[in-house]
Amino acid sequence: MGHAPVLLAEAMDALALKDGGLYVDATFGGGGYSREMLARARCRVIAYDRDPDAIARGVELVAAEPKRFTLLQGRFGDLSADAPVNGVVFDLGVSSYQLDEGRRGFSFRADADLDMRMEKQGPSAADAVNKLSEAALAELIYRYGEDDDSRRIARAIVQERAAHAITRTGLLADTVERAVGGRKGARVHPATKTFQALRMLVNDELGELARGLSAAERVLAPAGRLVVVSFHSLEDRMVKQFIAERADAQGRGTRYAPDLPPERAPSFTLERRRATASSDAEIEANPRARSASLRWATRTDAPAWDELEPPALAPRAEAEWAKLN
Ligand SMILES: C[S@@+](CC[C@H](N)C(=O)[O-])C[C@H]1O[C@@H](n2cnc3c(N)ncnc32)[C@H](O)[C@@H]1O
Repeated sequence: MGHAPVLLAEAMDALALKDGGLYVDATFGGGGYSREMLARARCRVIAYDRDPDAIARGVELVAAEPKRFTLLQGRFGDLSADAPVNGVVFDLGVSSYQLDEGRRGFSFRADADLDMRMEKQGPSAADAVNKLSEAALAELIYRYGEDDDSRRIARAIVQERAAHAITRTGLLADTVERAVGGRKGARVHPATKTFQALRMLVNDELGELARGLSAAERVLAPAGRLVVVSFHSLEDRMVKQFIAERADAQGRGTRYAPDLPPERAPSFTLERRRATASSDAEIEANPRARSASLRWATRTDAPAWDELEPPALAPRAEAEWAKLN
């Protein structure tokens, strides 16, 4: 099965694509956004993905549009451009390809090695589950997963791994389900939040988002658009705060603020404060759209602000994890 792009039309409208423009698709995935950008305007697109499988899927598009399309394997936290960019779009999280490819270990729907590494390098989710302390696991599942059963789940993981290492997605899902008493008839599996928390840690997703937003701020030309589609409340909050702070959404100046030093002059303007959600019809057709939230803002000509600090939400887990890297 392919990847059905979420909020595609809304993201394209927010980018305000124009002929001759240069745009960055920070998350190529299945290429749905890149293809639409190239179709909607005579523009150039530079796309990034950190997953080698996504890059392999993009070979055909590169061959079809050699002059207008560039695909780079790498993290969007490192994105740069040699010319001013008219729009940067992030469609965060994992693609359906990653979820459906059982052996990548992102999902409990297939029993597979507990992997979850988008780049297929470095320590895996199994390392986190087997090596982090109980306190770190509980903190991680509570803060990144926003799961109130985090302590119970962490205790069950530690008990289970004392008998044998937890190296498979199936065993982790069963361990969590046993810990919380398996909610029959629940719409989502009880291990969903634990899996999500591990994925975010393994791929440093919040750190990447902080670096990616700052990188976008640096490469965007005046009047360029920053567009972000997120699927997790922590990410959405980071994006919202990043834009609100830099757009000085408290109601001080808009384009210029002469009373502020230049490094604090608004680097974005915000025309729409509310996030855009998927329509009922899109959610019906694509359940992944359920938690999608789109925010966008327009770059001003003020200098970029200092690099955004990642939020350090789970300091204990993050510190223990850093030692494994
Ligand atoms: C939701 S999918 C994007 C789907 C795409 N918009 C489409 O229409 O097919 C997210 C993609 O972003 C990639 N990704 C996630 N974090 C990244 C990062 N920090 N740098 C580069 N790519 C990243 C993932 O590997 C995944 O392929």
